[in-house]
Amino acid sequence: MTRILSVVGARPNFMKVAPIVDALREFPDIDHRLIHSGQHYDEKLSRNFFADLSLPAPDLNLEVGSASHAVQTAEVMKRMEPVLLDYQPQIVVVVGDVNSTLAAALTAVKLGIEVAHVEAGLRSFDDSMPEEINRRLTDALSTLLFVSEQSGVENLRHEGVPSEKIHFVGNVMIDSLLKHRELAAKSTIFKQLGIARDGGTSASYGVLTLHRPSNVDDPRVLQCILKAVATIARELPVFFPLHPRTRKNIEGFGLARFLSEPGQGSCGGIVPLDPLGYLDFLALHDAARLVLTDSGGIQEEATVLGVPCLTLRENTERPATVECGTNQIVGADPERILAAARSALKNSARSTRRPPLWDGKAAPRIVAILREHLQAK
Ligand code: UD1
Repeated sequence: MTRILSVVGARPNFMKVAPIVDALREFPDIDHRLIHSGQHYDEKLSRNFFADLSLPAPDLNLEVGSASHAVQTAEVMKRMEPVLLDYQPQIVVVVGDVNSTLAAALTAVKLGIEVAHVEAGLRSFDDSMPEEINRRLTDALSTLLFVSEQSGVENLRHEGVPSEKIHFVGNVMIDSLLKHRELAAKSTIFKQLGIARDGGTSASYGVLTLHRPSNVDDPRVLQCILKAVATIARELPVFFPLHPRTRKNIEGFGLARFLSEPGQGSCGGIVPLDPLGYLDFLALHDAARLVLTDSGGIQEEATVLGVPCLTLRENTERPATVECGTNQIVGADPERILAAARSALKNSARSTRRPPLWDGKAAPRIVAILREHLQAK
């Protein structure tokens, strides 16, 4: 039996690992275990995603919870080590760029176990982002680097990574999106939010998500963004599923005045919502006129859905989304956000351009390469 262990920890990991788990199931000679670090533990950020994605419950949850970066990373390592010693996988698969990704990769290589990194090579070139540090270090530790877009291949080559380690396979997040898009369209979220749909592709609302420390931990930055979006929301209601960190800060900084009263969604404004599950968010996103976000994954999803996306950051590690024309980098400056929103709303045609290999088949490609690699050992 081939033993493979995959690790997830936080919300954006679940939709990346789900198609890999599906593809691994095709091979009875593979024994696969899924470990959840417990970095995200709220039902709305974790368990609901397993249900929506039909992802089997993890074999083990390390229950590390929230803490400072050092403590969280160290706790994952401490709790992961005995699991790896006991199971002795031939390879550990990690996805994305969260603290659990790096912690699991480091624990594995210290035990002489190989690591495969899914979503390797992405670079924002901004070391103030914790994810950038996680990405670069995880890539440095990995034997197999599975890359989602051409820029990732170039970044790794530029860093001197031997080309036999680099595998351009496409985007597993898009595998999940394409698999679930139809099912998501049946979501009751439209009814729940009182959104009228006239049968066209887009409805008259926008979606906002914010969770990056650089945007939500600084009261001035958060206020600038909310003020700009509140102006847009006078004409186009904006639904705002709130990450727990963002909700806490909006309340703590006294910025709740920018949000509509709960239940007043149909009257417009920025409408606060609890975090949404995978299918409800996909449905809401797919029918939106505009999405404003600081998430990396949502920039990618918007590209495939053809929804205009304004990225509320100064950079992106996913330049393919900009090259395809759906994504614009607008930062946190209110004038820039407003000008970009106005221009995006003028054009109602949806883009159909997709980066190469964002075709729903990245996970089978990954599993084929994993098998070949392990058989050759
Ligand atoms: C983490 C990832 C980030 C990813 C994001 C998606 C890192 C460094 N960051 O950020 O890359 O884009 O997940 O959401 O790994 N909290 C809860 N419930 C939870 C989890 C967290 O209330 O289930 C709150 C806690 O107050 C916690 C805070 O959110 O301190 C931050 O959580 P944490 O996991 O440290 O980082 P995220 O901001 O979620």
